[in-house]
Amino acid sequence: MYRVYCRRRRATLPDRKGTSVARNLTQLELLIELEPIAASNVDRHLSMAKDWHPHDYVPWDQGRNFAAMGGIDWDTGQSALSEVARAAMITNLLTEDNLPSYHREIAENFSQDGAWGTWVGRWTAEENRHGIVMRDYLVVTRGVDPVALENARMIHMTNGYSAMAVVDEKARGADIRPDSGAGLLYSVAYVTFQELATRVSHRNTGRVCDDPIADRMLARIAADENLHMIFYRNLCAAALDLAPDQSMAAINTIVQGFQMPGAGMPGWRRNGVLMAKHGIYDLRQHLEEVLLPVLRKWNIFERNDFGAIGEQAREDLAGFLERLRADVVRFEEQRDRSLARAARRAGQLV
Ligand SMILES: [Fe+2]
Ligand SMILES: [Fe+2]
Repeated sequence: MYRVYCRRRRATLPDRKGTSVARNLTQLELLIELEPIAASNVDRHLSMAKDWHPHDYVPWDQGRNFAAMGGIDWDTGQSALSEVARAAMITNLLTEDNLPSYHREIAENFSQDGAWGTWVGRWTAEENRHGIVMRDYLVVTRGVDPVALENARMIHMTNGYSAMAVVDEKARGADIRPDSGAGLLYSVAYVTFQELATRVSHRNTGRVCDDPIADRMLARIAADENLHMIFYRNLCAAALDLAPDQSMAAINTIVQGFQMPGAGMPGWRRNGVLMAKHGIYDLRQHLEEVLLPVLRKWNIFERNDFGAIGEQAREDLAGFLERLRADVVRFEEQRDRSLARAARRAGQLV
């Protein structure tokens, strides 16, 4: 167990008049200052995490051979999943499959030392279970085409994914480019939102599968994602206390540049639209179930410890959230019209 101690002190540097002004911390300083918080949260995580085994969540008695071993290959008729459930399952599984990309980013920013290194290893091992169990379930139950799935995995993993590259790209126009000397802050902010987003997506995918076995499996995964989110959220909260302006600027950049980690995978656009249309992960859920609860937990809009940079970032973020609220309404109006059109077409066909 790691020794738990806390020494939260604000990053200050005396100016010429001898008064203290906030200064940016380097990545190394952030890692050292936040290491005790990482240690206590590793302990917390290990005390709360439930050990589980992927094989206990797969209905093996439904399995049979494919043509290469004398059986028959997959066709759509064998799948008990709806088109929406298939799209969501594939998206969520390919997202989990891309773990080496996320590992790279986390390992580079968190370091391999002390509690940080322990967390990177443990988190990676837990995440790997998610891809294992979902693939076993889908192949055994013939829920999706295993050949198309494998081909998509090859493309997606070969391309890799960098959340920071996406954020950097999206933030460029808004003049909120990440501070390259503090990647840790961007990483913890991004993964806090990302873990919560995948939790929501897994949970809702479980519901549309219409299979209690899939629902139980995805609820199990979602519970892991929630614990991961709490680890990162606590780290980011400590970073806000330690370096308020720097952390607020990172949070603002991440929220405005956020994209789901599956962005760019084969079929991303089509599957993403299906998922949004059917309430698995849409803009309102992103705003109300992911962004706002976390921002509330960090007391972003009640804090009084920001300097000029933090205040400016907070104002910028408030404006962005306002625009997002308007986008939510526009999206839902469009979705309602499109679903009504589809219902009318289906009625005419009967
Ligand atoms: Fe996961
Ligand atoms: Fe996770």
